[in-house]
Amino acid sequence: MKIENICCIGAGYVGGPTMSIIAQKNPHINVNVVDMNADKIKAWNSKNLKNLPVYEPGLSKVVKEARGRNLFFSTDVNKHIEQSDMIFISVNTPTKMSGKGKGYAADLKYVEACAKQIAEVSKSNKIIVEKSTVPVRTSEKIKEILMSNNIDVDFQILSNPEFLAEGTAMRDLEIPDRVLIGGDNTIEGKRAVNSLVEIYSSWVPKENILTTNLWSSELSKLTANAFLAQRISSINSLSELCEATGADIEEVSKAIGMDSRIGSSFLKTSVGFGGSCFQKDILNLVYIARSEGLDKVADYWEQILIINQHQRDRFSKKIIDVIRKKNLEPKVLLLGWAFKKDTNDTRESAAIYVANNLLNNNIKIDVYDPKVAEHQINFDLSNVTPNYEKSSVKFVEQPFLNISEYNIIALMTEWDEFKAFDWDIIYKKIKKPAYIFDGRNILDSINIKKIGFNYIGLGRK
Ligand code: UDX
Ligand code: UDX
Repeated sequence: MKIENICCIGAGYVGGPTMSIIAQKNPHINVNVVDMNADKIKAWNSKNLKNLPVYEPGLSKVVKEARGRNLFFSTDVNKHIEQSDMIFISVNTPTKMSGKGKGYAADLKYVEACAKQIAEVSKSNKIIVEKSTVPVRTSEKIKEILMSNNIDVDFQILSNPEFLAEGTAMRDLEIPDRVLIGGDNTIEGKRAVNSLVEIYSSWVPKENILTTNLWSSELSKLTANAFLAQRISSINSLSELCEATGADIEEVSKAIGMDSRIGSSFLKTSVGFGGSCFQKDILNLVYIARSEGLDKVADYWEQILIINQHQRDRFSKKIIDVIRKKNLEPKVLLLGWAFKKDTNDTRESAAIYVANNLLNNNIKIDVYDPKVAEHQINFDLSNVTPNYEKSSVKFVEQPFLNISEYNIIALMTEWDEFKAFDWDIIYKKIKKPAYIFDGRNILDSINIKKIGFNYIGLGRK
C-alpha cells in the first residue's frame, strides 16, 4: 500500500520531531500532526520558530523546511484521522496513579481513547502505528477496540517504538542505529510493515530497518530503556563505593568503558537519571514480570529505580549535612532544572527531587536554567512538595546577579554553559566558605579546588 497521507495523534516530544523528519524526507507524503491541546498546536504553528513547544537542536530548521509544504499541525483530529492511510499514535502513556497496577503499570487510557476515536471516524482501511511506549500485547488490545467498534474497515496494527533521546533527537532520527517495526505475520500484516519500511527507506539504509513480530518490538523498547538505565544505576551505585574506598568513579568508568565488550556509553555518574521514559518503562517492566509471577525478575529490574532514588537522596543529604555542620545560611543556588542538557523537558528531572528534599529541610532554593521557564519549575514542585510555597523558591534569569547571597551552588544539569562559566570571578563574589556540589561531575575538580571552592562531586575526592 502506497502511503499518501499520514496522521500522527500527539504533538509532543516524540510526535513533533519524528513527524517533522518523516515529512522532510518524504515530500510526497502529507503529514498532519494533531493534538487535543490547542495551545500546543498554536505553538507548533507559530511564525517565530523560537516559540515551538519543544526545544531540540536542529528541529526548527526542519520545521521551517517542511511546515506548510507537507507538514501540518492541527486540532482537527477527526478530519485527519479520516483522510489518512496511516495513523501514528504518539500520545503519552504515564504510570497509572489509581486502579489495578497503580504506581507501576502504564496507563493506556489515552491510547485506548485514540483507538476508539479512530474506529468511530474511519471509513477506509488504515494502518495504525503504535509509537507510544506500551506494555507487551497492547497491540492486541488496540485491535480489539478497533474491531469491536468498526467492522467495515480493515485495520493493521504495527509497533514502531521510538529510540530518540531528547537533546539529540534530530540526529537520532536522521541517523538511527536501527528502526524497529513489528507487525503481524500475515500477508496483510507484512504488507503493512512494508509500507512503513518504505517510508523510512527514504533516508535510512535498509539493513538498519529491523522487522519483528509485534510483541518482540513492544518488549524491545521497554528492555532497551531498562538496559540503558541499568548502566546508569550500576555506575551510580559504584560512585558511593568509590567515595567509601578512595577510588575515583571517573577513572573506573573510563577503565571499564574501554573494554569493547562493555563500551563507554551510559557510564557517566550523575545525581540520577530523569526523563519521561526510564522510570515509567522500568515500572512497567516490573509490573509485567510480577503479573506473570516472575518475582525475582521483577525485583532485579526494580533495584535500578531504588538506586536512582538513593542517588538523588544521598546527593541532597551531602548539601543538607554541610549546611548543618558548617552552620551556613540555608540557601542554595541550583544550576539546571532540565533532566539533561539541550532540552527544555523537566519530566522526572533529578533537580525536582533534590529541590524537594532541600525544601523539606527548610532550605531555600534559587533556580537557574537556560531553557526552562519559571511556571514549569513551580508546576514540577507543586506536584511533589506537599504545601509547596512559591515564596521558598526563586527563579533567577541571570545566575550570578546576586551571587554574594549564597555559600552553595549545586550543579544539576550538564549544560555546556556551566562548564564555560568564569569560576574565578564567581569565587571572588560568592559568600565564603564557598561550596560547589557537582551533580554531574562536569567541572575539573582540581581546578575548582585551586580557585578556592570546596568541591563535592560524586564518587571522587
Ligand atoms: C512519548 C510517547 O508517546 C510515550 O509513550 C513515550 O514513552 C515517551 O514519548 P511524549 O511525546 O514525550 O510521549 O509525550 P508528550 O510530550 O506529553 O506528548 C503527548 C501529546 O499527546 C501531548 O501533546 C498531548 O496533548 C497529546 N494527547 C494526549 C492527545 O492529543 N490526545 C490524547 O488523547 C492524549
Ligand atoms: C531515553 C533513551 O535513551 C531513548 O532511546 C528513548 O527513546 C527515550 O528514553 P532520554 O530519556 O530522552 O532517552 O535521554 P537519555 O540520553 O537516555 O538520558 C536519560 C537520563 O539519563 C538523563 O537524565 C541523563 O542525564 C541520564 N544519564 C544518561 C546519566 O545520568 N548518565 C549517562 O551516562 C547517560
